[in-house]
Amino acid sequence: MNILVATEKPFAAEAVEGIRKEVEQGGHTLVLLEKYTDKQQLLNAVAAADALIVRSDKVDAEVIEAGKNLKIIVRAGAGYDNIDLVAATNKGIIVENTPGQNSNAVAELVFGMLIQAARNGFNGSTGRELRGKRLGTHAFGQVARQVARIAKGFEMTVGALSSRNISEEGVIQISDIDELYSNYDIVSLHIPAKPNTIGLIGYDLVSKMPKGGILVNTARKEVIDEAGLMKALEERPDLTYLSDLRPSNADEWIEKFANRVYFTPKKLGAQTAEANINAGIAAACQIVSYFANGDETFRVN
Ligand code: 3PG
Repeated sequence: MNILVATEKPFAAEAVEGIRKEVEQGGHTLVLLEKYTDKQQLLNAVAAADALIVRSDKVDAEVIEAGKNLKIIVRAGAGYDNIDLVAATNKGIIVENTPGQNSNAVAELVFGMLIQAARNGFNGSTGRELRGKRLGTHAFGQVARQVARIAKGFEMTVGALSSRNISEEGVIQISDIDELYSNYDIVSLHIPAKPNTIGLIGYDLVSKMPKGGILVNTARKEVIDEAGLMKALEERPDLTYLSDLRPSNADEWIEKFANRVYFTPKKLGAQTAEANINAGIAAACQIVSYFANGDETFRVN
């Protein structure tokens, strides 16, 4: 089988070597399409692929249509909002993700951005500490769990908004969204982009945050109501927004809010060698295992 790895944002070289090893040991052929700049390159490459591994790469109905031989698509990562599940399902193509494999990397970035903000961008002026602050996670999936684990190490008070019972020691169950935004100094977003979360985080919620509140987004751009959040930041000069997902008009935000906002140059939460190795190799193993014995453990469609 031809297993295509199509990554506009490539995996670390060690991850690619690990993927190659798994693919070849499974008796398959690895085809690499990295740093492509044009969708046509993906359409051409997918035409001969039996399986596809991607990251945030957009796999829409046209790509799926072009993948005449495609049997399985694995999103090496958590969020699969970049894949048209309906189009894949209609073609009988299995879609999987690799939950948890890159979650520590994303969680570490949350704290990287938090410390940078708490120390005023390392400009030498008097900063603040994280110890003793209240950090709440919006949702409690794999990344949020890692965030909670690290936050406990900082001796923060940790809460998580979840409808499911939280059994983790030292994590306060938050069952009401208003409680999360009203009571926590730092809110870290860990919701997927779904119809019921798109544009959810805006003026009403963020305005509830306590004085000096910090909103951290390592989840998805789409969950933010950018106009609403901007209005909240305009009205509340004490609020800060840190994000791994640049808003549409990032320059305007930076001009307006200066050091009260920080945006990574491009989404890099999962961009560590370790996360690439974990997620990339997991994706390869899942495909090999599907072809070997029909294993569909991580199927999402
Ligand atoms: C994920 O959903 O796994 C993360 O957002 C990472 O995405 P990336 O593979 O594009 O870095």
